[in-house]
Amino acid sequence: MKNKLTSIATNYLPQVCWISLLLFPSPVILAQQAEVSAGEQVFQTYCAACHSIGAGRLVGPDLIGVHDKRTQPWLEQFVKSAQSLFDSGDADAAALFAEYSPMVMPNSAISDQQIGQVLLYIQSRSSGTADAGNVSPAPAAVSVAAAPPSMQAVARGADLFQGRDRFENSGPACNACHGVRDGTITSGGSLAVDLTSVYSRMGAAGLSAIIAQAPFPAMQVAYTGKPVTAGEIASLVAYFQSAEVNAQSSTNYGLGLLFSGLVGAAALFVLFPFIWRNRKKESVNQSIYDRQNRTE
Ligand code: HEC
Ligand code: HEC
Repeated sequence: MKNKLTSIATNYLPQVCWISLLLFPSPVILAQQAEVSAGEQVFQTYCAACHSIGAGRLVGPDLIGVHDKRTQPWLEQFVKSAQSLFDSGDADAAALFAEYSPMVMPNSAISDQQIGQVLLYIQSRSSGTADAGNVSPAPAAVSVAAAPPSMQAVARGADLFQGRDRFENSGPACNACHGVRDGTITSGGSLAVDLTSVYSRMGAAGLSAIIAQAPFPAMQVAYTGKPVTAGEIASLVAYFQSAEVNAQSSTNYGLGLLFSGLVGAAALFVLFPFIWRNRKKESVNQSIYDRQNRTE
């Protein structure tokens, strides 16, 4: 009897172990899952504007299987600052920059821990352990005509940029934080980078993605719940495209500005003595003083 019980117990031991493992997953696995889902959050907030995992190229490359091509330290460094990895002369970064020019991946606004989490999430999506069928929806692509934008769109974009027109969902005007030096609009804030040449740096696709879902905390705070609409994005992109051209043609005065200044100053030196040629040559007191001297 006792013998039989022990033999049952030993026979079923593996099954019992499996069942208890399934019912009470080990803390290690739980912690891993928490990291992966934290990573998914980071991805949706900071990366999905430009990357998909398995749904094709957006502004940046599809990140599926990126761990098969790159080492973990390379990935960490690239996500932290793609630019500085490129500057260090890394060949893979150089090839990527050439392929995706003019768009350069912005330096990350996230912590080292979040970088670890998002890479773990990308890895788990690539190997299909997490629900691989659940492909995150790509952000709505905004189609923007490449060359030359309509005057109407440019004007609307300029008005939106500087807050003369309100955004449909009442987000703040861009010039609260950004400036553009094109000589036609009220110069903007200097909290964030100047956007004068942003069009040639990012192209229409990169710009649209960033405005639709900015990977920068300050902009996310400003536009949560107040998204900029697709039509507004198209106008803004059109404005940036023309602003760059205006800035080039209006700010490049070169030496001409210096010479016209010198000639103007010389002309004034000649003109003023002529206009005031009848003015008194010395002070009034001087003539009284001279008269006093003479009577003595
Ligand atoms: C504004 C667009 C943009 C955002 C946001 C962005 N990336 Fe990128 N990413 C790019 C571009 C463009 C490239 C191609 C290289 C280049 O030109 O900088 C790239 C390249 C990469 C690569 C290298 C891919 C390869 O094939 O080796 C990785 C990894 C990567 N990004 C991860 C991320 C992660 C993680 C995030 C979020 C934290 C992120 N990116 C956010 C635009 C972006
Ligand atoms: C609350 C302040 C704020 C507002 C409002 C704002 N931005 Fe930004 N924006 C930022 C910050 C901060 C960055 C990150 C880059 C930096 O540090 O300057 C940024 C980055 C960008 C970039 C990337 C620039 C680059 O060279 O990397 C673009 C493009 C951009 N913003 C466009 C816009 C547009 C278009 C609007 C209006 C719809 C807007 N922003 C409104 C704060 C703001």
